[in-house]
Amino acid sequence: QTIEMELQQIRKGNFDHFMLKEIFEQPESIVNTMRGRVNFENKTVKLGGLSNYISAIRRSRRIVMIACGTSYHSCLATRDLFEELTDIPISVEIASYFLDRRPPLFRDDTCIFVSQSGETADTILALKYCIERGAMCVGVVNGVGSAISRQTLCGVHINAGPEIGVASTKAYTSQYITLVMIALSLSEDRLSKQARRNEIIDGLGKISTQLEEVLTLNDKIQAVSETLVEKPKMLILGRGYQYATALEGALKIKEISYILAEGILTGELKHGPLALVDEDIPIIMIATKDKLFDKIINGIGQVTARSGKPIFIASQNGPTLVEGNKKGNGVTESETDPKTAEKSYVKFEVPETVDCLQGLLNVVILQIFGYWMAVKKGYNPDHPRNLAKAVTTE
Ligand code: G6P
Repeated sequence: QTIEMELQQIRKGNFDHFMLKEIFEQPESIVNTMRGRVNFENKTVKLGGLSNYISAIRRSRRIVMIACGTSYHSCLATRDLFEELTDIPISVEIASYFLDRRPPLFRDDTCIFVSQSGETADTILALKYCIERGAMCVGVVNGVGSAISRQTLCGVHINAGPEIGVASTKAYTSQYITLVMIALSLSEDRLSKQARRNEIIDGLGKISTQLEEVLTLNDKIQAVSETLVEKPKMLILGRGYQYATALEGALKIKEISYILAEGILTGELKHGPLALVDEDIPIIMIATKDKLFDKIINGIGQVTARSGKPIFIASQNGPTLVEGNKKGNGVTESETDPKTAEKSYVKFEVPETVDCLQGLLNVVILQIFGYWMAVKKGYNPDHPRNLAKAVTTE
């Protein structure tokens, strides 16, 4: 037992916990995911485990992505890109809910099973259901030799290396990149998508360096988490590509710091969650620049009009996010200027990448945030209560 504990200590290296170590490994683990697969010069993607099946997948009538927990969020994060690059209808399913419904499924459907461990019972049962109905079943797993990798017809290993922390971090970013690579492969024959594909492959070439830059915000995130640690609840808002980031960030925070964090689609604010907004509730808004920026600004306006004081995840040197203060009530001339008003908000600035890859950088802020919230509350982030790394029962 003691030897095992000492070994664990050695494996953690300079980090207090596996979770932080794994967060900091991401610039390297995502490169391992792409190694030998993405050719940045020729702008091609080759996935050995899928090459014999790519044309069959292209002919499928529908692609169904099935997973649980964090793995489910990686499917949500890449769904838009699959739709855009393949023009095939995509549905994303939580394995247990899929099994509850037992929905119609056909031989010309392709089902993609995403799982870090490859051993999650719900996902395995969903796989069995799909195999029985003759669908083509593809695995995206980290666990080599796992049940899901053995039972699927073909697939891609994410090659993130072993993940010890119960809260998944580096597996998420590697699943995300693997799914992007699959979408790129599926559209390799489409001339009309060439420019977009090239842009994404160039983006993948820079993402590791940019992720390293995000990690330099660690100290600032730690300091901000200190101010929020007593708060029992928290909202995380995002839309479009960043909806998945909001959900994944909220899951990280709740699973290890036991704060009731809710990920909310900014477009849904006015249909309910806006009632929760006041000057007291911590709110993190993902406001990196993309084609939805006008709508993001609109959402920020809805929150600040209710005295909400969001913390922003924003693009470096991005446009101003808040309006200036209204004149009157002792507000000085300079405070009516949006730039000055914005200085009173906390903002984490991340490098800008292609819209569909931005979530890879934004989520890291929330991973680190969740980590520090747990540590400040005195919890061990590697072993959250009531949770297991792989859930092998239904
Ligand atoms: C458990 C873990 C989560 C994980 C989920 C799915 O709940 O605590 O971190 O996201 O299972 O696991 P899988 O191995 O299938 O990705």
